[in-house]
Parts: sequence; C-alpha cells; structure tokens
Amino acid sequence: MAIPKAHYSLAILVILFVVSNSQTVCNPECKAKEPFNCDNSLTFNRTGFPKNFTFGAATSAYQIEGAAHRALNGWDYYTHRYPERVPDRSSGDVACDSYDLYKEDVKLLKRLKVQAYRLSIAWSRVLPKGRLIGGVDENGITYYNNLINELKANGIEPFVTIFHWDVPQTLEDEYGGFLSPRIVEDFKNYSELLFQRFGDRVKFWITLNQPYSLASKGYGDGSYPPGRCTGCEFGGDSGTEPYIVAHHQLLAHAEAVSLYRKRYQKFQGGKIGTTLIGRWFTPLNETSDQDQAAAKRAFQFFVGWFLDPLVYGEYPMIMRLLVGDRLPKFTPQESDLVKGSLDFLGLNYYVTQYATDAPPPLPTQPNALTDARVTLGCVLSFFLLQAPSFVYYPPGFRQILNHIKDNYQNPLTYITENGVSDYGNLTLPNALADNGRIQNHCSHLSCLKCSIEDGCNVAGYFAWSLMDNYEFGNGYTLRFGMNWVNFTNPADRRQKDSAKWYSRFVAE
Ligand SMILES: *[C@@H]1O[C@H](CO)[C@@H](O)[C@H](O)[C@H]1NC(C)=O
Ligand SMILES: *[C@@H]1O[C@H](CO)[C@@H](O)[C@H](O)[C@H]1NC(C)=O
Ligand SMILES: *[C@@H]1O[C@H](CO)[C@@H](O)[C@H](O)[C@H]1NC(C)=O
Ligand SMILES: *[C@@H]1O[C@H](CO)[C@@H](O)[C@H](O)[C@H]1NC(C)=O
Ligand SMILES: *[C@@H]1O[C@H](CO)[C@@H](O)[C@H](O)[C@H]1NC(C)=O
Ligand SMILES: *[C@@H]1O[C@H](CO)[C@@H](O)[C@H](O)[C@H]1NC(C)=O
Repeated sequence: MAIPKAHYSLAILVILFVVSNSQTVCNPECKAKEPFNCDNSLTFNRTGFPKNFTFGAATSAYQIEGAAHRALNGWDYYTHRYPERVPDRSSGDVACDSYDLYKEDVKLLKRLKVQAYRLSIAWSRVLPKGRLIGGVDENGITYYNNLINELKANGIEPFVTIFHWDVPQTLEDEYGGFLSPRIVEDFKNYSELLFQRFGDRVKFWITLNQPYSLASKGYGDGSYPPGRCTGCEFGGDSGTEPYIVAHHQLLAHAEAVSLYRKRYQKFQGGKIGTTLIGRWFTPLNETSDQDQAAAKRAFQFFVGWFLDPLVYGEYPMIMRLLVGDRLPKFTPQESDLVKGSLDFLGLNYYVTQYATDAPPPLPTQPNALTDARVTLGCVLSFFLLQAPSFVYYPPGFRQILNHIKDNYQNPLTYITENGVSDYGNLTLPNALADNGRIQNHCSHLSCLKCSIEDGCNVAGYFAWSLMDNYEFGNGYTLRFGMNWVNFTNPADRRQKDSAKWYSRFVAE
C-alpha cells in the first residue's frame, strides 16, 4: 500500500485535529510510525486458532434494514429533525434495504464462508409502541423468523443483539427512554418476547450494544439521539444523565439475563451476554506516574464503568470517588442481580489512545466526559487507508484483552466488532481495492491469536462490517464493509478485496 508522503502527513494532521479536540499535543512518535503491514497477509489463515473458534461478520438493524414497515425510533426522529447533524444529511430510511434483501445479505455471508452473523433486532419493528401492552407486530416477527431460518438453512449461527441504540420513539415521548427506570420493565418484556419467539433457534443473545455510547453521545455531548446535553436544545445535564442512562442500561440488561436464566436457558440451551466498546489507553509520557494513572482512569471510565458492575457488582472505586453523588448507587439486590450477569462478554475494539493527566474540571460544570480528568491524545496509528479516515493500533487489542483476562476473571469473550472505515466517496475501483482493510483485519487477527496464546478466553471474532451501511453520526460518508453497497440501488453489492481475503482466511 503506497501512501504518498505528503498525503500521509496531511492525513495525520486531519486525524490529530479530529481526535484531539485541539487540546493535546501528540507524542511526536505518533507521527513517526510507519504504515503498518501485516507480515503474512497472503498465507495467514485460521490454522492455529482453536478448531471451534467462531468467525463471523456483524451489522445492526438501523444501519442496514431501512425504516419500512416499522414504527419510529429515536434515530428516525433525530435524523429527520436534525439533518444537519449528519455530514451528508442522510438517514437510515433505506440504508442497505435489508428488510427486502435479507436473502442477499445471507448470500454475502455464505460467500464470506463465516460460521456466524451478528445482527440486531429493531425493537419498534416487533413492538411498535415499545411495550407488550401496545401489541406485537407479527409482520416484524415474521421478518426475523425468515432471516433466522435463512441463516440456519445456510449453516450460519445467529448472534442476536437485542438493543443496538434504536429506542422506540413512543418510549422516548412517554417517559424519556433510558432516562427513566420504567425502561427496565419494558426492555425485560421486549427481551422475553424475543426469547419466546426466537429462542428455539437463537443460542447467542447480546442484550445491549455499547451502552457507553448511548450514555456519552446521547446524553453527554448530544451527538446521538435523543441529542441531550447541558446547553442542548432538547435539554439535558451532561453531569448526571449519562450516569443515569448507563445505570438503567445495566439494570435492563441484568433483568433480561435473570429472566432468561430462570425461564428459558435450561431448555433452550443458549448463552446471554452484552457488548461493550473496548478501547485501550496508554500513557503519553510512559515514565510519568500521573500519565500512567490517567491511562488507568481512562479505562475505568470507559470500560470499567460497565465491566466492574457486570463482574463485581459495583462501579469502579475511582468513579465513585470522582463522580460522587452524581453516580447512581446499586441497592444490594440490584448489585447481586448485575454481578455475574454475563455468560460471555462481547467486546468491540477499534483504537488505542494516548492519555495524559488533566486538571479537575470546574465543579460548576460537571460533565461525564471530563470526570475522568484525562486528556485523550491522538489515536496511535501504524497505518491509514488510501483515504485517511480511521487509524488503528493492533498491539492495543492484545493489551486490552490481557488486561481484561488479568482483572476481570478471564471471561469467555467474543470480539463482536473490529474493522476500519474508508471514505464513502472513493471511486468504485478504489473502494473495491481495499488492501488497507485486509491489513487491518490481518493485523488484528494476528494480535488476537497472540492473546489466545497468552491465555485470553476468546471464542470468536466478528468483522465490522458485512457490508457498507449507515454509519450513525457519519451517515454514508464512511464505509466499513467487506462488501460494497450502492446506496442508490442497494441490491447492487460488490465483493471488496477484503471479503475475498477474509473468506480465504476463514475457509483454510
Ligand atoms: C495456513 O496456515 C498454516 C499455518 O501457518 C500454513 O502452514 C498453511 O500453509 C496456510 N495455508 C495457506 C493456503 O496459505
Ligand atoms: C472449544 O474447545 C476447547 C477445547 O476442547 C474447549 O475447552 C472450549 O470450551 C471450547 N470453546 C467453546 C466456546 O465451545
Ligand atoms: C410486562 O410483562 C408482564 C408479564 O407479561 C406484564 O404483567 C406487565 O404488565 C408487562 N409490563 C409492561 C410495562 O408492559
Ligand atoms: C515524563 O515524565 C517524567 C517523570 O515525571 C518527567 O521527568 C519528564 O520530563 C516527562 N517527559 C516529558 C517529555 O514531559
Ligand atoms: C471525500 O470525503 C471526505 C470526508 O467526507 C472529504 O474530506 C473529501 O474532500 C471528499 N473527497 C472528494 C474527492 O470529494
Ligand atoms: C449505483 O446505482 C445507480 C442506480 O442504479 C447507478 O446509476 C450508479 O451508476 C451506481 N453506482 C455505481 C458506482 O455503480
């Protein structure tokens, strides 16, 4: 992969600007790294991974299905109300049209030769009012039955995410969605409906996708629906609401797991867990005690916020200390319910960031995004795609997995997302020749293999994503797919080089 030098430095500048919030001076080493190349992308294959290791690909409902034949959710409302907040003013109204084209989706999976598919169910497609009491939409149930049956018929194991950020709009209107404790019972009942209707065939349930993101973007900076923050047009309080929303997500998750274990798991024989966004942090100044502590705090506020309660039943000590009364408390019963509520951990990993110690924020402006007292620097990078977009650091993948092994009782883990984007406006030939994406997956899989050799209990890897799709706040300006999609005619899908590479890797 040849990136002209000037283009490369410009790319770095763009990334520094985007990621550092203009505050940070990045470690010069960050710029000096050579583009990363996977040593052996031509021969590397699944040999050497455990025989029963699952390779898959992932998507989510709002990003691919299109909005046809379902009730509104928060993303519909937000993208229609604030089109200017998405760079190309787009929405997921059509996306990949997977509602009509699900058989084509399964063909792409089949061609990838993967054993598993991570998909999500659109809450408002099966429960238009968000609640059981509002009635079940049997057309929505039929859609997912068809999809699940098509997967099974092709020997592909469905991993089903119950909630991937698409709160039914009725629940937002009625009681503020995840801001209200009322969401817990509605989520539990929604989950039970899925266990009842699909649990005979679905053996892997993921309750939530990246609860961090809903809390911090939906309620911290207002960049995701429902677009709330201190000073936001819709109201909000960035110092308290992210913590409340995180708390209710944890309780909703735990109630659903408890119910599954009590009533369904024994005879359905499945597993249930949740997916967290993983990110690794490394001290900007490796010899500074302050920066080392900052990197640890960054991890605790990003991953520990959820993983500590899930494994130990409590928020990390450092969060309780720094957030104080703004952090909700678990009652002893709630703590017991949340603790141990994972049969497996789903972990998404994309990037590693530098962390530096930051002074305490002003007490008059509490904000969940600054409570950790860390300034996050540039993303460590080895490599950029032809068009500069995201950068990545595969060694951080091994580091975070080892950290979780050593500090959280080595949970059974599935990597539920990993990948890299390029820009949406590449010409078709350039988009298909995605050697950069091959390098990305190859290098992360290499580091994953090392992690397994280190003793990390990882059982599967899902590439993000099966195909180009609606990238939430970035609309169609970023493409993460191993397969290309023509968004003006979504039946027109093409295999990228990365798809060819991955299918060879998986089949070997
Ligand atoms: C697959 O990997 C194994 C182990 O590294 C290697 O011996 C084999 O040649 C590879 N297969 C191909 C087709 O490259
Ligand atoms: C895979 O096989 C190994 C060895 O037989 C076993 O220890 C492990 O539990 C299996 N993993 C899964 C996820 O089934
Ligand atoms: C949840 O389901 C239970 C049992 O079916 C029912 O009694 C309860 O009313 C439901 N709750 C809501 C909020 O719909
Ligand atoms: C890194 O931290 C050490 C220990 O605090 C300090 O002596 C050194 O000056 C720092 N280096 C930089 C580049 O700031
Ligand atoms: C492609 O998209 C990126 C980001 O959206 C933009 O910065 C760049 O100028 C675009 N390039 C072309 C040729 O339109
Ligand atoms: C995408 O589909 C539209 C409509 O069929 C077509 O006009 C266009 O050429 C396609 N784009 C590419 C890059 O093939």
